[in-house]
Amino acid sequence: MELGLLSMMENKIKWIHCTLIALTAQIIDGIHVAKYVKSRIMKKIYCLKAENMEPCLATVLVGDNLASATYVKNKQRAAVELGMKTMDLRLPSNCTQSELIELIKSLNEDVTVHGILVQLPLPVHLDTYIITNTIKPLKDVDGLTTTNMGLLVSGRGCLKPCTPVGILELLDHYGINVSGLHVVIVNRSQLVGKPLAFLFLERNATVTICHSKSNDILKEIKDADLVITGVGNREKFTLTGEMITNGSIVVDVGITRYKGKLGGDVDYPSVAQKASWITPVPGGVGPMTVCMLLNNTLIAASLSKA
Ligand code: GUN
Repeated sequence: MELGLLSMMENKIKWIHCTLIALTAQIIDGIHVAKYVKSRIMKKIYCLKAENMEPCLATVLVGDNLASATYVKNKQRAAVELGMKTMDLRLPSNCTQSELIELIKSLNEDVTVHGILVQLPLPVHLDTYIITNTIKPLKDVDGLTTTNMGLLVSGRGCLKPCTPVGILELLDHYGINVSGLHVVIVNRSQLVGKPLAFLFLERNATVTICHSKSNDILKEIKDADLVITGVGNREKFTLTGEMITNGSIVVDVGITRYKGKLGGDVDYPSVAQKASWITPVPGGVGPMTVCMLLNNTLIAASLSKA
């Protein structure tokens, strides 16, 4: 009995040690920052409405991919919550490329629509590059058209991809300055890795992009002051505490179901013991992506007045 009590006390002491002493990372709270940004956006919508302008976001979903449908629902819901008009357009997974192009062209011409988002990924028979570039750059609230990407690379981005801008907004909110830092991005997509690299360069960071064919990802990550990871497959890649340097900053863009739970690329308990800052999943980068989409729609609405 006494031994049992002793062991319980030992466990309690271990728990206190783990939670109060060993866990050092401060949390970058995307839900908190998103609330703050949303209130800013709401005020701007109010002002635009006072000028007889009702910002409108049109989303296009092709097919019945469950994850994509959830993302679109969240985007629609957030827009409506903030008082934005929306259009929710759907095409079956077997639609032709011409049908999708026609739909986008009609949205391009519709003066009541300010932002157009085609949810990705598209079914494989549709050419993502051609579809994305059918969107008028001034309504491209994903910032994925060649025009908007080119402007971004030239340091003159206006409508910029939502996840990268959301990450910068998070870092800014917590006063994390990336100038001079070595930033390692484990993602080379159009949506995240590539635009993020240019945005960090603009802020005087030294940037490395890693991917599945990189020779020594572990070495790069060990050398990083800030690690951004967006793989979304825990079997292929999991960022653990032993992989990072003490005090580094970790931003998790991955989203995946692992052991029955929604999570990211990061093994949170071990990484939180060594990092200085960390984003949780859920509740980190995700809520910011939606905010930045709404912010881009406001920018597009304002541009339509010019
Ligand atoms: N699929 C996953 N993330 C995104 C995004 O930010 N925009 C679009 N269009 N599709 C996505």
